Amino acid sequence: MNLDSKIYVAGHRGMVGSAIVRELQRKGYNNLVFRTHAELDLTRQADVEQFFAQEKPEYVFLAAAKVGGIAANNAALADFMYLNMTLEMNVIHAAWQNGVKKLEFLGSSCIYPRLAPQPMPENCLLTSSLEPTNEAYALAKISGLKYCEYLNRQYGTDYISVMPTNLYGPNDNYHPEHSHVLPAMIRRFHEAKLAGVESVTCWGDGSALREFLYVDDLAELCVFLMNNYSGNETVNAGTGKELTIRELAETVAKVVGYEGKILWDASRPNGTPRKLLDVSKATRLGWIYKTELEDGIRLAYEDFLNPNQN
Ligand SMILES: NC(=O)c1ccc[n+]([C@@H]2O[C@H](COP(=O)([O-])OP(=O)(O)OC[C@H]3O[C@@H](n4cnc5c(N)ncnc54)[C@H](OP(=O)(O)O)[C@@H]3O)[C@@H](O)[C@H]2O)c1
Repeated sequence: MNLDSKIYVAGHRGMVGSAIVRELQRKGYNNLVFRTHAELDLTRQADVEQFFAQEKPEYVFLAAAKVGGIAANNAALADFMYLNMTLEMNVIHAAWQNGVKKLEFLGSSCIYPRLAPQPMPENCLLTSSLEPTNEAYALAKISGLKYCEYLNRQYGTDYISVMPTNLYGPNDNYHPEHSHVLPAMIRRFHEAKLAGVESVTCWGDGSALREFLYVDDLAELCVFLMNNYSGNETVNAGTGKELTIRELAETVAKVVGYEGKILWDASRPNGTPRKLLDVSKATRLGWIYKTELEDGIRLAYEDFLNPNQN
């Protein structure tokens, strides 16, 4: 990308999209194009085609998606599949029709099998069954990355994808029911601290292992890959480090300053038992994460307390 290349960031108000915009602006890219969800619903094919024909972006970061945690995914399997699949196909197809030079598609580590080898390398994709609670979302994301691959193979495009682990940071979603585990904990422990509540009960038994990446680190990788990577196989984005959900809860409670008890409701699902990405490919390409978890949670908590300061 040149500094004056026309770059469309789809989903620029979301956590990932806004981090990509910050990173592009930090690096001096000065010809960015955006549309809010209200201005352009990416599930509307004719509107998406009209937007691409009018704006003719040269590069596209596809960070728009309908996202949610276990509960939201499980409760709306059909919606998660339909909205994500439609949105992805519309944007990727319109990009190809309008000669976009390069597109980068954002997926998620939930595309990998429930019992994938750990850490999960990119080539374990489609080797066995998915985690049922987010199967619909995963199938939509797999379709998006495969559509990029098929366009490359059939038409010689240069469309790539990146699969981040669990993300957190500025502009995260802190909704009480529709948020991911880390922002949900920030909110719950913060509210429990303010209310002086004696204990907070978390879902599952706390034994599940997870990995978390600060979103600005991901954005740096996304811009780096746009400039330095071509290939059909996706690129994993993570820290390569894992901790239990119990340890995560303790870290969040410490940062937030909640001093009550943390209890576990084992009747609630844990989700996938272990989810760690093999990040050796990104490392070989020349990228490594910068923000340690406790530092990142501190930054995220500041953003939670004072949103839109970034
Ligand atoms: N968050 C994570 O932990 C995580 C982890 C791995 C991968 N990812 C991936 O990163 C990508 C972005 O996630 P995120 O966390 O940044 O989500 P997010 O904060 O919810 O942002 C998604 C953005 O997409 C927009 N959007 C959704 N549907 C749209 C539509 N039909 N038309 C136009 N805009 C639409 C949303 O606008 P509205 O809010 O107005 O609907 C929002 O601004 C996703 O592909 C996700 O799979 C996220």
